[in-house]
Amino acid sequence: MLTVVRRATLSRLLGLLTSSSSSRARTVTAGTRMTSTGCQDRDQKVVPKDEVIRFIEECMRKAGTTLEDARVVGHHLMTADYRGHFSHGMNRMQMYVQDIENRITDPAARPQIITDFQTLRLHLGDLLRHDFQAIALVDGKNGLGQVVGKYCMELAMEKAKKFGIGMVAARGSNHYGICGYYTMMAMEQDLIGFTCTNTSPLMAPTRSTKSGLGTNPLSVGMAACDGDGFVLDMATTAVALGKIELAIRKGENIPEGWALGSDGKVTRDAEEAFKASLLMPLGGAEHTSGYKGYGLGLMVEILCGILTGSHFGPNIRAWKTGDKVADLGQCFMAINPEAFAPGSKDRLTTLLKQLRSLPSSGEKPVLIAGDPERQHMKKVDMDGGITYHPNQLEASEDVAKHMSVRPMKLVPKST
Ligand SMILES: NC(=O)c1ccc[n+]([C@@H]2O[C@H](COP(=O)([O-])OP(=O)(O)OC[C@H]3O[C@@H](n4cnc5c(N)ncnc54)[C@H](O)[C@@H]3O)[C@@H](O)[C@H]2O)c1
Repeated sequence: MLTVVRRATLSRLLGLLTSSSSSRARTVTAGTRMTSTGCQDRDQKVVPKDEVIRFIEECMRKAGTTLEDARVVGHHLMTADYRGHFSHGMNRMQMYVQDIENRITDPAARPQIITDFQTLRLHLGDLLRHDFQAIALVDGKNGLGQVVGKYCMELAMEKAKKFGIGMVAARGSNHYGICGYYTMMAMEQDLIGFTCTNTSPLMAPTRSTKSGLGTNPLSVGMAACDGDGFVLDMATTAVALGKIELAIRKGENIPEGWALGSDGKVTRDAEEAFKASLLMPLGGAEHTSGYKGYGLGLMVEILCGILTGSHFGPNIRAWKTGDKVADLGQCFMAINPEAFAPGSKDRLTTLLKQLRSLPSSGEKPVLIAGDPERQHMKKVDMDGGITYHPNQLEASEDVAKHMSVRPMKLVPKST
């Protein structure tokens, strides 16, 4: 049954993304159809955050997860949409359901610690007692990425509170969503958070015409006073693939430095870039220092794939193929600022204020990483819910129908 949902829903979503001009016609057709069923009305409607979680939770339960894990995924995907990263929110649920249905992801798996201080001490006596207590290696057992991620970051935080720093690396994991979710878990407890993950190969390393690494995103964050903070959350490619999908949707060219075409040359054609799926590293071409992004992507791969023994680099399954397990590697760190010079939170607060008040080169003010997401969340709060693209709403309705889950209820915007 889910296969049917998937095809119908995916084709609807792909109506936005595929490369032929007829796809635009399909999009318009879908839009027109929705107008007749209240699309214009929908523009003025939003989905409250709790309702988004309820919907994802019910879908994940139907797919076979426990209630607790369904909640973890629901809260994570809602948070991505709330922060404005729609490519990594509800939009990703289909992929998780598909992998569960194909028995590629185990919805009931529990992450398991393979080595940490406890087991090392058992094997090696007290000799290593003080050397390894801050780290752990976890096997995600092929469970849902968000479940593995939350488990690992909680463990890293526990260690950071005891030892000043905690580092947990996982193998056997799956796509874990937005990296920022995990750093914010640490920030909520006044710890510095760091995480990164390897991903399916999509980045062509500097001078290469083939992909060798993924978009390998990372996030680092630290809380300042009064709810302020720094949350850097980024792919190590010039952009995530979702930005190219968005350019197709808008019928726009992409800037030079984002992607290569199938011929291995830089392209500005969004559809060609999506087809080739050869993203350039952060920084773009060699002459604009793209090798730095390539280096960062490789750093992520070392922390995730090389340290843990998961799949790595070009050996990871191709993006959106569900023929074999992903076996992704992920890394989580928590650092207690109190272990260093007192007053770091106040100093960060001062620094962020100083940076934001620097003279701007244009109309727009200087921002801190995390500000664009904060602005998006503020708007969602003012609107009383999340505004979804009509095609996402239609796709969700298809899923609801075929999974026998109550569709998401839209409410009028409060502004
Ligand atoms: N799990 C995965 O496989 C995977 C892969 C790739 C990306 N992602 C996620 O996708 C999301 C989007 O990634 P992205 O690279 O497209 O992010 P992005 O380019 O939208 O933003 C990157 C960072 O730059 C900051 N930023 C944006 N404008 C700024 C400005 N003017 N001044 C200062 N800072 C600014 C943002 O706050 C953010 O921290 C992230 O949440 C990432 O974790 C996940």
